[in-house]
Order: sequence, then C-alpha cells, then structure tokens
Amino acid sequence: MKRLDGQVALVIGAGTVGGGWGNGKACAMQFARDGAKVVCVDLDAALAEEAAAEIRAEGYEAISLAGNATKSADMKAAVDAAVQTYGRLDSMVNNVGIVVRGGVVELSEEDWDRAFAVNLKSAFLSMKHAIPAMIANGGGSIINISSISSLKYLNKPYVAYYSTKAAMNHMTRVTAAEYASKQVRVNAILPGLMDTPMARISAEKNWGATPEKMAEYWDKRAAQVPMGWLGDAFDIARAAVFFASTDARWVTGQCLVVDGGTTLGL
Ligand SMILES: NC(=O)c1ccc[n+]([C@@H]2O[C@H](COP(=O)([O-])OP(=O)(O)OC[C@H]3O[C@@H](n4cnc5c(N)ncnc54)[C@H](O)[C@@H]3O)[C@@H](O)[C@H]2O)c1
Repeated sequence: MKRLDGQVALVIGAGTVGGGWGNGKACAMQFARDGAKVVCVDLDAALAEEAAAEIRAEGYEAISLAGNATKSADMKAAVDAAVQTYGRLDSMVNNVGIVVRGGVVELSEEDWDRAFAVNLKSAFLSMKHAIPAMIANGGGSIINISSISSLKYLNKPYVAYYSTKAAMNHMTRVTAAEYASKQVRVNAILPGLMDTPMARISAEKNWGATPEKMAEYWDKRAAQVPMGWLGDAFDIARAAVFFASTDARWVTGQCLVVDGGTTLGL
C-alpha cells in the first residue's frame, strides 16, 4: 500500500519556470509516486503538460489543464476536471506564487495588487471551489505553499511577498477552523532558502547573480541555513504528502516550517 493510494490530487501551479524541479512540479510527481492520480494545472499549458507527461512517463496517472489561478472560472474548471476525470477530489496543493521586489516606497500599486492576486486570491478561489467538492466526498486536505518570509524579514525588500504569505498563513488557520467539522483539513508549508529554478531566476533577476557567480552566491545562501545546505523541491513535496495522507488525519490549521533550521533564530 502506498500512502496516497486511491486519492485524487489537484496541484495548482504544477509547472516549473526554467526547467528542473520547482515545488509545484515536485509535489505533482511525489503525489503520483505515492499513489495519487494527479491533475496538473498551470497558467502555462505547456508547463502543466510537461509535469503530467513526466508523471505518465514513470507509469502513473495524470492529466494537465491550463488555468489562471486568479480567475474563479478557471479554478472551478480545475476542480470539475478532477471530479469528472477521476471521480473525486481528495487533496489540493496551492503552489502559485511570485516575488515582486520593493519596499512600500518603491513598489508600484500595480505590483502590490498583482502579488496579492497571484499569491493570495489564487488560494482563496481554488479553496472556494475545492472545499464543496471535498465535502461532497467526505472530506479532504488542502496544502497552501507559503514561505518563511511570512514570519521574518529576510534582508530583502519584498513587502508584498512577505505580506501575502503572512495573510496566507492566517487564511489557512481560519479556513481550517471553518471546515474542520466537515473533515476538510487545511495546512500550510513554509519553505525556507531553497535550491530551485525559481530561486536561481530570482537571484539573477533581482540580485545580479550571474551564472558564473552563482556558486559563490549559493554558498553564501547555504551559510544562512543552520543545517548548512539548501533544501530542494522534494523536501517540500514530501511534507505535502504527509499532510495529504492519513498520517495527518488529525492535523489541521498548521503552518509547517521546512527550512533546515533557518527560522530557529527568530
Ligand atoms: N522556490 C523557492 O525558493 C521558494 C521558497 C519559499 C517559498 N516558495 C513558494 O513556492 C511556490 C512556488 O515554487 P516553485 O518552485 O514551484 O515556483 P515556480 O515558479 O517554478 O512554479 C510556479 C508555477 O506557477 C505558475 N503560475 C504562476 N502564476 C500562475 C497563475 N496565476 N495561475 C496558474 N499558475 C500560475 C507558473 O507558471 C509556474 O509554473 C510559491 O508559492 C513560492 O512563494 C518558493
């Protein structure tokens, strides 16, 4: 028996920008490896299909769907696709998230609104449609991908990112409280400093870390982690599988920090 045998999972933001393994794609793959049938949704149809195709190439079941997580109709379509294709919806990972640089003085109003739409409204909309489908099925598990930046200042000016992730943590707790009696569990994962394509792209775009200087930049980043190394996307995916599995059947409303100890000095 695998931990997620018989489950149907929906991953919103299942692609990886820049190739390799981001958190969303790793979640989709790990859920499949642990027994779930997976619906991979992404703004970019090709990235969603890439994730689903890699899952099928390993012999598991997955479909892909293009969808914008900031659009209610697209999130309804994603939930409907899971139910119509596989008959039910057991778990959902809300992974979409963008970093926009700036403190309150420098950040434009448009970027503030965009960050709140992509990072927060997305999870509100997907949960709005997924929770009734889960209740119809006796319950389910929602996993919101937050960040340790919801807890502390990380020495970088990302006011909108920090704020959206802090709001996501509390949305997780209150939604967990609201639907606990219906057996819908809602938890968040707070990744720390990671080695993912998203982190590398951000380092190049925002901090001038050229490909040649990336190793040096990465060593400095790893030095901020008490365990001494950067986590990868599967560290997040395995934590998400725990929340989706019956091992976590009495765990709800929690914000699990997965960061090699970085926030211990809070
Ligand atoms: N990678 C890290 O270092 C790190 C650290 C802490 C937290 N996180 C969090 O993890 C999540 C993303 O990690 P990742 O590595 O998978 O990133 P990623 O950028 O590789 O993947 C995110 C996917 O979401 C998709 N997406 C963006 N906007 C969308 C929208 N409106 N609708 C549907 N899909 C959309 C993108 O196309 C992309 O494929 C974010 O919530 C981020 O805040 C990441």
